[in-house]
Amino acid sequence: MQNSPIRFASRMAQLPPYLFGTINQIKMQKRWEGLDVIDLGMGNPIDPTPEPVIEKLCDVVKDPKSHRYPVAAGFKNLRREIARSYEKDYGVHLDEDAEVIGTIGSKEGISHMSLALIGPGDTVIVPTPAFPIHIYASIIAGGNVIGIPLETSSESLLRRISDICESLYPRPKVLMLNYPHNPTSTVTEPELFREVVVLAKKYQFMVIHDFAYAKITFDGYTAPSFLQAPSAIDVGVEFGSFSKSYNMAGWRMGYCVGNRQMIQGLAKVKGYYDYGIFSAIQIAGIVALRHCDEDISRQVAIYQQRRDLLCRGLQRMGWPVAKPKGGMFVWVKIPEPYDRMGSMQFAVEMMKRANVAVAPGIGFGQEGEGYLRLALVENENRIRQALRQIKRALADIDPDAPQAK
Ligand SMILES: Cc1ncc(COP(=O)(O)O)c(C=O)c1O
Repeated sequence: MQNSPIRFASRMAQLPPYLFGTINQIKMQKRWEGLDVIDLGMGNPIDPTPEPVIEKLCDVVKDPKSHRYPVAAGFKNLRREIARSYEKDYGVHLDEDAEVIGTIGSKEGISHMSLALIGPGDTVIVPTPAFPIHIYASIIAGGNVIGIPLETSSESLLRRISDICESLYPRPKVLMLNYPHNPTSTVTEPELFREVVVLAKKYQFMVIHDFAYAKITFDGYTAPSFLQAPSAIDVGVEFGSFSKSYNMAGWRMGYCVGNRQMIQGLAKVKGYYDYGIFSAIQIAGIVALRHCDEDISRQVAIYQQRRDLLCRGLQRMGWPVAKPKGGMFVWVKIPEPYDRMGSMQFAVEMMKRANVAVAPGIGFGQEGEGYLRLALVENENRIRQALRQIKRALADIDPDAPQAK
């Protein structure tokens, strides 16, 4: 605009519109018009936070002491409980004072950790397609990102990492991992983490593992912690989240555990930017960690049933879909001939014609093109309804029509 003092920083030009922008706009408009939109778009849990956690929050919030600025790194009791949960779940011993820090959700933690580690001239390796912040935290921090295909085979992923380390100077500084993975729900085995640590030591890069879906696993599969790999703590950290395990997405609570220098860096940045998690939420979080294992199991059973229902329904429609072993999403290739439309246009058509919101694969990078991500965040009746509406809408779509292109 002419004659306006409003000018953004150059980094803003590197940020494409956020993934859900277009889809959310249509969704809001439809809801405003009173239409029922079935939302399989965002991984935003619909089920309630466990009752004891809510009760604790309500108690603590009455105490004016909880209204003050909290302890930025997290109360010692919260950090101790996080350390205990790592000992119990993964056999990993952590020093609660130096190797654990609370974050305002893992997304905040990853963003600020990236500011602590990455700057101009630094390179981060990210398997793609990727959850946007895994790429853009480094871009915002001024760094470069090299995307490598998230291979189903660990060997080829490791080979690609080695190849980049051998060919790039200066060498990559950070490797960003995420298992169970968003958006593809790919899971991994401890062996991959062991090999990653070997490479991290050989090529001197740090590792950030986003473990947001740590507990959301199916069919008897358990997700390994990065920190279970020998010496992992020498090279990296792991981010955890209360959002998915305890349906606490809106509460904004997560944590970072692992390498003490990296955690010190994060604490330093956070010291400037924020005051940590609201005290009452920290205390309620302790209750979640201490008393709510069974709530997680119940929630996982619900996700597993939704997954089975959704995958079965898609398969009956002839869509090629594999059941994920973890995470909250079904990642599915758009079948022919609709793939010609591109995932964004396909998602828009689903929204307009079927009243079903889905996430287009292109929102997770070019490698996601041709795919959709469906979040397991509607109940079974509404998933059935969504499948019926999608089927009906497909019959009306001409993938070669100009508006569908
Ligand atoms: C892989 C991954 N990491 C982090 C987050 C954000 O978690 P939090 O709510 O703890 O910030 C999400 C949310 O969808 C996610 O999918």
